[in-house]
Amino acid sequence: MAARTVVFICTVILIISIFIKDVSAGTFAIDYDNDTFVKDGKPFRYISGSIHYSRVPAQYWDDRLHKIAAAGLNAIQTYIPWNFHEAEEGQYDFSDQRDVVTFLQIAQKYNLSVILRSGPYICGEWEFGGLPAWLLRQPGLKVRTMDPKFIKPVDTWMTKLYTTLKPLLYKNGGPIITVQIENEYGSYPACDYNYLRFLRDKARTMLGSDVVLFTTDGDGDGYLKCGTLPDVYATVDFGITYTPAKNFAIQRHKEPKGPLVNSEFYTGWLDHWGEKHSTTATAAVAKSLDLMLALGANVNMYMFEGGTNFGFWNGAEFPSYKAIPTSYDYDAPLSEAGDITDKYMKVWQVIAKYNPVTMDVPPSTLKKAYGKVPMRFASTLVDHMDNSAVIPLSSVYPLTFEQLGHYYGFVVYKHVFRMAATGNLDLSGVRDRAYLTLIHNAEVSVNAVIERDNGNMTVPVSVSTGDYVLIIVENQGRINYGNHMNDNVKGLTTNVTLNNKPLEVWEQTGFSYNASQQVLFPTKTSVSKGYSMPSFYAGILVVDEPQDTYFDMSQWTKGQLYINSHNLGRYWPKKGPQVRLYVPKYYLSRGENFILMIELEQAPCLNISTCYVEFMDKPLINGTVDGAEDSSEKQADTFLARMIWLLLDLLYSGWEWLI
Ligand SMILES: *[C@@H]1O[C@H](CO)[C@@H](O)[C@H](O)[C@H]1NC(C)=O
Ligand SMILES: *[C@@H]1O[C@H](CO)[C@@H](O)[C@H](O)[C@H]1NC(C)=O
Ligand SMILES: *[C@@H]1O[C@H](CO)[C@@H](O)[C@H](O)[C@H]1NC(C)=O
Ligand SMILES: *[C@@H]1O[C@H](CO)[C@@H](O)[C@H](O)[C@H]1NC(C)=O
Ligand SMILES: *[C@@H]1O[C@H](CO)[C@@H](O)[C@H](O)[C@H]1NC(C)=O
Ligand SMILES: *[C@@H]1O[C@H](CO)[C@@H](O)[C@H](O)[C@H]1NC(C)=O
Repeated sequence: MAARTVVFICTVILIISIFIKDVSAGTFAIDYDNDTFVKDGKPFRYISGSIHYSRVPAQYWDDRLHKIAAAGLNAIQTYIPWNFHEAEEGQYDFSDQRDVVTFLQIAQKYNLSVILRSGPYICGEWEFGGLPAWLLRQPGLKVRTMDPKFIKPVDTWMTKLYTTLKPLLYKNGGPIITVQIENEYGSYPACDYNYLRFLRDKARTMLGSDVVLFTTDGDGDGYLKCGTLPDVYATVDFGITYTPAKNFAIQRHKEPKGPLVNSEFYTGWLDHWGEKHSTTATAAVAKSLDLMLALGANVNMYMFEGGTNFGFWNGAEFPSYKAIPTSYDYDAPLSEAGDITDKYMKVWQVIAKYNPVTMDVPPSTLKKAYGKVPMRFASTLVDHMDNSAVIPLSSVYPLTFEQLGHYYGFVVYKHVFRMAATGNLDLSGVRDRAYLTLIHNAEVSVNAVIERDNGNMTVPVSVSTGDYVLIIVENQGRINYGNHMNDNVKGLTTNVTLNNKPLEVWEQTGFSYNASQQVLFPTKTSVSKGYSMPSFYAGILVVDEPQDTYFDMSQWTKGQLYINSHNLGRYWPKKGPQVRLYVPKYYLSRGENFILMIELEQAPCLNISTCYVEFMDKPLINGTVDGAEDSSEKQADTFLARMIWLLLDLLYSGWEWLI
């Protein structure tokens, strides 16, 4: 009797468990016989688009994923930027803008499968290719290898990440169908197979041996050599082509059977400051896509929506340091602001030939031109540094951003001269750009900009005892690609010398502001205000109905822009090609919105009628570029400007205000 009951109960449990598995979970695998993926036993081909949750305001995730589904796509691909989630070692953040679980659940709501690129390295034109800067506190660490200094934190992070995302695997009822190991590892010279094997085994241990793992590399045998492992599915990436069979033939060298996969089909391309905006012809994108789909290939469009490098999240590239701008529009089918473009409609038409279109295309969001907002000078950075609220850190020789634990944005270095001297200050260790102000007898005597990989990095000075120099160093974004990734320490990375002797005793202060801070308005003005030295400016935008808008910065030179508590990113209209910065409506509120700018070089405020920013209803990311600045002309301009503002200072005294 008892035995029969046990058998009965066991049978019921067995039936229930089979039933639960059938309704809530699925299977996803590779069918090598039929050269296809199979989802729940049926052939499955994905038409996917890349979108990075870190580059789209969380409030807009639903809108963008809706538009992706409406274009007929059945999958998305996203990167996980490690540094976005683990700002300091062991401190994890998966909330709000970093809530990747919610992002993936919204994708699932729209029946979009997810191709997960879990890193730890992602490239992506993202700061340090997604690696956290605190790794660099360990001298000599070799990224993307089995170096124990690297692999130990990688191991801890992958455990955390995979534990978080495991419930979202397709077999567990979630949207994730495949997981990528590393990223284009075959393009990285280290070629450490043990490192790839480590990542493979980590994924298998954490996620289960039944999850489809893959690698992505350029479509050349040279790339596939170091980027692939025999038992991880090898895919390739390539842009416009009218003979896709040839490109896929390279994948076939590694995978004679199985689905054809282009993991990054380039719908556009990235930009650099100082270079023309990249575009890729819509007709070419549509035709290439059509040809690949006709072959039965799986395609991921990189990007489907590029989005924005808010804050300090842009990466940079080598040889010759070149930073990525704030906009990551990418000339993708959905614009930076998620708008429907002609490219979107053409892609939609191509996909409709293969996948029945079932959804209406949602409209683009409204944009509003709020007009001009006068900006007012608040203080120079020199004044601010004299503010007692600022507590600097002292050292004999300059510390790097990483040593200071201040990884992004700016650090101000201060040195007081203990004896008179004349000679050259050598700043060749500046990473990446420095704004130097020399205070001689309590007056500004030298203002200079020193730029890595761009000309002379010495400054002639003549100093008396008690003079001091302030050097604001900007991290313009850590390199995200290639061997120079190991050259990513920021700040004053070597000694500053005067006549070849290292200057000793420095004070350093990291600063990353947001507009809710008031500390920047000093109570005293020790050095008179300057429109041609690093300074803060503030303004108020009054909004009745928040809508998306664009900050037009064309009057200004270079700096950082904040609205309310949001760091909107870097502006550099004088360099180009980007002139306007995208402001999502969710960063605005009804009533007063507080604008704060750190202008690093030259404000248009000599003439009060040009001291403003303007809110426009259209983007401008393809402005003219200034690749070759004439620095001598600029210095002359700066000198003239300083003379004029000294005069205007008298006229406008009492004009500046405190909040
Ligand atoms: C896959 O290939 C096998 C062997 O060629 C064949 O028997 C089977 O029907 C194919 N399955 C599908 C879904 O086409
Ligand atoms: C997702 O697919 C299911 C099943 O095919 C369908 O019932 C549902 O309407 C789809 N959802 C969307 C948002 O298309
Ligand atoms: C700075 O100079 C001191 C004294 O010569 C030296 O010990 C130190 O290593 C130098 N620092 C760097 C980063 O070169
Ligand atoms: C803005 O700065 C204040 C003062 O430092 C800080 O308390 C607050 O958390 C910051 N807000 C954001 C969103 O970073
Ligand atoms: C200030 O700029 C306005 C508009 O560009 C111009 O009309 C005016 O003459 C300028 N004033 C001075 C003092 O330069
Ligand atoms: C910039 O883009 C706009 C919108 O696509 C276009 O009308 C304009 O001609 C472009 N300008 C340049 C300089 O390429």
